[in-house]
Parts: sequence; structure tokens; C-alpha cells
Amino acid sequence: MTAAANVPSAAIAVKATAAPSTSAAAPRVQLAAIEKSFGGVPVLQHIDLDVQAGQTLGLIGPNGAGKTTLFNIMSGFLTADRGTVRLDGQDISRLGPEARTHLGVVRTFQKSLVFPSMTVRRNVAMAARAVAGTGYRWWQAGAALRDADARADALLAQAGLSARAETLAADLSYGEQRMVDLTIALAQSPRVLLLDEPTAGLAEEEGARLLALVRQHHAETAVVLVSHDIDIVFGHCDRVAVLDLGVLIAVDTPEAIRGDARVLAAYLGMPAQTLAEVAA
Ligand SMILES: Nc1ncnc2c1ncn2[C@@H]1O[C@H](COP(=O)(O)OP(=O)(O)OP(=O)(O)O)[C@@H](O)[C@H]1O
Ligand SMILES: [Mg+2]
Repeated sequence: MTAAANVPSAAIAVKATAAPSTSAAAPRVQLAAIEKSFGGVPVLQHIDLDVQAGQTLGLIGPNGAGKTTLFNIMSGFLTADRGTVRLDGQDISRLGPEARTHLGVVRTFQKSLVFPSMTVRRNVAMAARAVAGTGYRWWQAGAALRDADARADALLAQAGLSARAETLAADLSYGEQRMVDLTIALAQSPRVLLLDEPTAGLAEEEGARLLALVRQHHAETAVVLVSHDIDIVFGHCDRVAVLDLGVLIAVDTPEAIRGDARVLAAYLGMPAQTLAEVAA
């Protein structure tokens, strides 16, 4: 990961970029024949995958299957050895993470990247400002800043965090911080929202609240959710993609995945009956 890649996307002054004019049939995000090796060891093999706007795709698989690697290839933190990543039909394979953020490919991280010494509102407003093209120019008075603040307040209200707007991010609970992470991502008007274990470490109720907030925004967004939590994946995703040793062994509805013998054998290592119980 590069130094630039470590900068939270909210901190990067970006200009909103108009959607490219492409065929209405193009998936929001499309991976074609993606290959990736580390030190000669293949980690991803011929991955074809697409996600439409308004769709939530769960990406699951055993440890080391290649989920994070695939996630990084979508978000631009890694470049595939071969294959193509398209956004609304536009080839973005060679763009880095910042350029992809400009185009609306927004990701959250497993570790919170809020600025701890800033208030919650400032953290979210900065992300909204970045998308509006005003970035860090705090001296740029007027409508743009007020618009960003208004957007931040609206998102914080949706997230149930209005009462915490003036709190320093450092003083939030862990669960609240994860919610603010998501709010920051949403403030960037994502066209593709990549969520990396967003509910890890959260109480069940906090996780449900976070996913409900995602749902409120998913109509115009393709959501990809990496999670080890089977309940969440089966309960919230329209489709589930299963990786095993770098190979995509199944992409289907949660119902179909639940009964797929290859998935049971490769990923869950448990009898079908048990999975059906878990996912029911
Ligand atoms: N930078 C790297 N250099 C070398 N090998 C790597 C690198 N990143 C990942 N790998 C290897 O690639 C394989 C896939 O790793 P990846 O992190 O994508 O798996 P994962 O499905 O996200 O696993 P987990 O569920 O444990 O997070 C693993 O064997 C891992 O050791
Ligand atoms: Mg991983």
C-alpha cells in the first residue's frame, strides 16, 4: 500500500467527475479475466464478476482465498497482472486509488480512518466538500461550505448521530466510529461502495443499524461487502460470490449458495444442514 493510499479519501481534494456516457446495460462495476500472482504464486485466477447499481454483492471465502486482494484490485490499491476493471463500461484498470475515488469508487477500511482531533461533523463535511471540489480550502466561504455542512448534517441524522456532531471523533465509541466511517464514505456520493468487514467487532444491533444505513443509499450504488459473518452476508446481499484458493467457485443468490455443495465443501467445511440452519 502506498503512502498516498493510506490517506483517508476524505482528506483528498477531489472534483466530482461526470459519469461517462456508456451503454445503459453496462454493469456499474465489472471485472473481466482478472489474474494476480504474488512472487509467482497465483492468488487470483481468471476472475469474471460484475455488480449492478442497486445491487449488494457479498464476497466470502476461507482465509487466504483472495478476497482482500480482489477488493484491492477493485479499489485500485493493487493492479491486476492481467484483466480489466470497468466502471460503467469505462476501463479504470490502470487508475490508482485516488483517481478511482474521484470517479466514485469509495471504500471503507477495517481500521477507522477518522481524524480523531476533529469533530464528527468536520470529518463528514470534509468528505462532502472533497466531492464538491472545494477540498481543504476552508477559507473558501459561502455556499459550497454551507452545502457540505448541510449534507454532513443530513447524513449524520440518517446515521442517528446528530447528537454527536460536535463530539471529537476520538471520543466516540468503537461502534459510533464505524458508523462515522460509513457516513464519510456516503458523503462522497459513491457509485461503487466497497465495505471491508464493516460490522467486525460491532454488537448485532450496531451492525444492523450500519447495514440499514447502507440500504438507504444503495439504489444508485453497487455495494460489495467482504464479510466473514454468514448471517450478514445471507441476510443483506442480493448475490454472493465465493472465492476459494483464488478461484471464483460460485456467484449466485443467497438461496442457491446455501445449497451449493462446492461452497459447503470448500468454504464452510460443514454439512449442508448446518449451513441452512446458520443462514435461515
Ligand atoms: N502483498 C502480498 N504479498 C504476498 N502474498 C500476499 C500478499 N497479499 C496477499 N498475499 C497472499 O495472497 C493470498 C490471498 O490473500 P488475501 O489477503 O487476499 O486473502 P483473504 O481471502 O482476504 O483472506 P482473509 O479472510 O484471511 O482476510 C494469501 O495466500 C496471502 O498470503
Ligand atoms: Mg482479507
